[in-house]
Amino acid sequence: MANDEHQTEPHTLILFGATGDLARRKLFPALYQLHQRKRLHPSTRILNVARSAYTDERFRDLATSAMKEFAPTAIQSMDDWTDFAKRLHYCSVDASRDDDYETLKSVLESLEQKNGLQNRLFYLAMAPEFFGPVAGRIQSSGLAQTMGWRRLIIEKPFGHDYASAEALNTELCQVFREEEIYRIDHYLGKEMVQNIEVIRFANSIFEPVWNNRSIANVQITSSETVGVEERASYYEHAGALRDMVQNHMLQMVMMIAMEPPSRLKTEAIRDEKVKVLRSLHRFRVDEVAEHVVRGQYDAGVIQNHSVASYTDEPNVRKDSQTETFVAAKLFVDNFRWAGVPFYLRTGKRMAVKSTEIVIQFRDMPKHLYFNQDGKLGPNLLVIRVNPVEGMYIQLNAKRPGAEETVIPVAMEFSQTSANSAEAYERLFFDAMRGDSTFFTRWDEVSLAWKFVDPIAAAFTENRTPLHLYPAGSWGPKAAEDLVQAEAHRWWPVYGQETTSVETVLERATATTREGQEP
Ligand code: BG6
Repeated sequence: MANDEHQTEPHTLILFGATGDLARRKLFPALYQLHQRKRLHPSTRILNVARSAYTDERFRDLATSAMKEFAPTAIQSMDDWTDFAKRLHYCSVDASRDDDYETLKSVLESLEQKNGLQNRLFYLAMAPEFFGPVAGRIQSSGLAQTMGWRRLIIEKPFGHDYASAEALNTELCQVFREEEIYRIDHYLGKEMVQNIEVIRFANSIFEPVWNNRSIANVQITSSETVGVEERASYYEHAGALRDMVQNHMLQMVMMIAMEPPSRLKTEAIRDEKVKVLRSLHRFRVDEVAEHVVRGQYDAGVIQNHSVASYTDEPNVRKDSQTETFVAAKLFVDNFRWAGVPFYLRTGKRMAVKSTEIVIQFRDMPKHLYFNQDGKLGPNLLVIRVNPVEGMYIQLNAKRPGAEETVIPVAMEFSQTSANSAEAYERLFFDAMRGDSTFFTRWDEVSLAWKFVDPIAAAFTENRTPLHLYPAGSWGPKAAEDLVQAEAHRWWPVYGQETTSVETVLERATATTREGQEP
């Protein structure tokens, strides 16, 4: 777990893929935030690595333009940004040329000489096929031999299936020890995902009800309005299952379902998370259709704009069978959770952008009260991850002024709006301090693939229908049927137009204010 240090140790961050999209959109804003908050040691340098030939000055200009484009409000003053930009250096490397690594080594050593330090943090923000070969060349060029510490941050995807993930891991482990490898899942850097642990283990009211006796189901939604964007070459091979479920969605399942750790120590927490994956019921290929729904977006309308179908997106095959939506019903087969469905749902081109976790509690054994529909709503604990951060508990209470009617009321706590640069900022800071709690350990990754592989096989073998859904919708009807089969329903997420608890409350207060019967 994070300790109390407020500043990182001096080190050099060697950022491979420094001209790429991720670096420009997320990593520079995150690093700059750390600088602004005075969390980067004054001697810390960022040695940017990519193929193009740039000078340090030219690269700093490019980084400045990227910041202005992607995080314009983050720059507090140009002086401060210029101060940060002095930390940026550049070295041109063709990832497949041994000689270039020699050059990189000498640039790195000359930077280190000036600063008198040799702590090295390598970050691979590049296409996955480079992960293994680049790590190998970091080794063969001697870059990995250092007097200080060395660590490797590696972006997703970590493999394409269990076999390729294992092969990659073997390659990496020839250079770095497991405790030196920081596998990124940026959802683990999100404020409210980290907060799940605190909400659960710092509040005595939850533990007694956090089990199958009190919880009817858990719903985890991560919906996006964007389509495949410019990423077809990657996404066509990944699909929503590998892109979102294998990593982000399962991480949220683990955080909700894990047992309390014996101590708030990195390995103790990761041990408990891994046990959830071990208990996850693994579907056989022939069981997948009953538990998993896959979909692909068709043309539709999002926020009043017409958008194309997935197969009409640039570089997507016209007959593509890649799924852009997955809904699934999972079971964690242990004493705490046996019988409680964990519903997951994620997709592109859906109605709103929202990541939310809903814990639905069981109904009262006997209904003494009724609402207008004649049915008392269940209690919900809702954890909002994105686009706003916060949580609320939905309770039932008497409608003000009216006699018998019960309405849902919310006890709500909202923080701020969420953005993923902040997630990267947290993860950078942790890796710089050697805290790997919110990175994924190899056994987590491997078990997640073992769970996902049979589902991927069922998709490839066409054992589950690929449902089309209109862009701007909530996915195919089959996703509704999946939960209705258990007499459940998907709860509306933040931003979804519906009679959500907010709307009900708003109506109740508005009419009460006017002195009328609501
Ligand atoms: C990434 C996926 O890991 O997460 C993207 O590759 C997806 O396809 C993104 O858009 C979603 O992240 P966030 O933070 O916007 O919910």
